[in-house]
Amino acid sequence: MALIEKPEAPPTQRNKWPILEILSKELISTANILEIGSGTGQHAIFFAEKLPLITWFTSDIESNHAGIKMWLETYHGSNIRPPFDLEMGLNDQDFNTNIDHVFSSNTSHIMSYKSVKCMFSMIGRLLPLGGKFYLYGPFNMNNQFTSKSNQEFDGMLKKQNSLMGIRDIEKLDILAEKEGMKRYGFHEMPSNNYLSIWRKGKFI
Ligand SMILES: C[S@@+](CC[C@H](N)C(=O)[O-])C[C@H]1O[C@@H](n2cnc3c(N)ncnc32)[C@H](O)[C@@H]1O
Repeated sequence: MALIEKPEAPPTQRNKWPILEILSKELISTANILEIGSGTGQHAIFFAEKLPLITWFTSDIESNHAGIKMWLETYHGSNIRPPFDLEMGLNDQDFNTNIDHVFSSNTSHIMSYKSVKCMFSMIGRLLPLGGKFYLYGPFNMNNQFTSKSNQEFDGMLKKQNSLMGIRDIEKLDILAEKEGMKRYGFHEMPSNNYLSIWRKGKFI
């Protein structure tokens, strides 16, 4: 069915400023950024406008493209690319565009763990040395929820679909290390969320 109004993701409007604070210190030269799971596209138009040196490549599963395109139509710059059809675990192996860094927000607890593994492996394959993966969202630490609200959120997700759930940051570190990436930054964000950054390097 055709969308009449642009889709809204209220959390993006709350978390975009604290995320920008970190990205604006990181992304200081020209670079191609792939966003995995762009959702509505609201992060894309905000970060592309605030970080004019970067080119932002949106992507998501096909059913979200119409909404992303509606937001992209409101954007007046030229540094955003229309959405790629990219679903971890389905067609991640076909993606071969040149990118320098990857950004993804609130995706690792939504996709299955198997798809999370595919995401890390695709990123490991695509990133050049020095390339970074920025992943925003809630994470567990030392096998523990970091708050009661995250525990409740995890329960709600699992009721909806048993494959969803908040991931352990240490397990994500292991997936990253298998791909030659090491955790390089971990920033506390509002509402018990974090921005984790892994960097591809010559570590192994
Ligand atoms: C909670 S939304 C977050 C959207 C957006 N990044 C944000 O912060 O508002 C989760 C997103 O992950 C996408 N997603 C779910 N499973 C996926 C998969 N296997 N591969 C790629 N994206 C996926 C969904 O389509 C959705 O856009």
